[in-house]
Amino acid sequence: MSLQVRSQVSLKPFNTFGIDVNANWFVEVHDDAEVREALAYACDRQLPVLLLGGGSNLLLTGDVSALVVRMASRGIRVLHDDDEQVIVESEAGEPWHPFVQWSLEQGLAGLENLSLIPGTVGAAPMQNIGAYGVEIKDVFAGLTALDRQSGELRDFTLEECAFGYRDSVFKQTLDRWVILRVRFKLDRKARLHLDYGPVRQRLAEQGIDHPAPLDVSRAICSIRREKLPDPAELGNAGSFFKNPVISAALAAQIKLGHPGLVAYPQADGRVKLAAGWLIEQAGWKGYREGDAGVHRLQSLVLVNYGAATGTQLHRLARMIQADIAQRFAVTLEMEPNLY
Ligand code: EPU
Repeated sequence: MSLQVRSQVSLKPFNTFGIDVNANWFVEVHDDAEVREALAYACDRQLPVLLLGGGSNLLLTGDVSALVVRMASRGIRVLHDDDEQVIVESEAGEPWHPFVQWSLEQGLAGLENLSLIPGTVGAAPMQNIGAYGVEIKDVFAGLTALDRQSGELRDFTLEECAFGYRDSVFKQTLDRWVILRVRFKLDRKARLHLDYGPVRQRLAEQGIDHPAPLDVSRAICSIRREKLPDPAELGNAGSFFKNPVISAALAAQIKLGHPGLVAYPQADGRVKLAAGWLIEQAGWKGYREGDAGVHRLQSLVLVNYGAATGTQLHRLARMIQADIAQRFAVTLEMEPNLY
């Protein structure tokens, strides 16, 4: 057995909330064989398994009585290049933002709007990460996953992933699949998406009339840095709640009392609300209890000022959910996985 399974390992460096709990068993895996070995190790000892990428979409509420398997596989390769479209494959353990930067340095467009999102490539399809009008499904060319039930490798097409808003077949069946590598279809000729929120305006402020993908990436990094706390400085897991999608009738009713409601009509006739706006209206922006708080610039982000526990953060989240339900009759769903 070449694997280094360690016991009683602090997970503080391995979750962006910076929650200080221990894993009873912990192992880093670097390739398919080590993934299989780790799963076999857990199976032999009847241990549950918690798969970890960058730990950026996770709220740990206590010591983890499982084998924590941290995906640490690396490698990026070009599978196809016809001078227009390029298919790139990345191992699951590659950190997301450096992968985006690498693609831009190669002159490849498509991932620029997804700049500076924490986490790993392998975790990105899990919740169909999205930002500034682009989701991973828009540039997705397939992935390879290990079926934990049968032990077989399986390739997934776009349709088979069942991507939705911060959702996928992998999020629905958390314990079934280990995503090993992901493929993206990128373009040599950029088709930029500049229409979301402040992107175009930021580029104009910078005096850029004809942006290249790298310019868009830089603009998005600057927007994100202004509003979203850096997990290295202030523990957080990005948006803590999903933006709720509600009926047009309920949105109209809320708007009567709140004319400033931020709402985006959806293709199916329903309406997506900005949860951050709802939470701010309800007075939670900047709220702090002990070391658990609501970020002072972006209400959708819960933060750990240092020694908050996952239970304290979860309690704060439930208080916010209950308040929003009472005030607006809207249900807020958590984005991070709870463990
Ligand atoms: N707003 C407020 N108060 C707040 C926060 C937001 O009024 O405290 C308003 C903003 O003024 C704006 C609207 O709400 O009119 C939307 O805000 P923003 O553009 O910041 O985006 P968001 O809806 O809060 C979503 C994603 C983010 C993603 C941004 C940009 C979700 C749950 N979150 O946030 O994703 O970066 O759009 O595309 O969909 C994440 O998932 O972890 C994440 C950070």
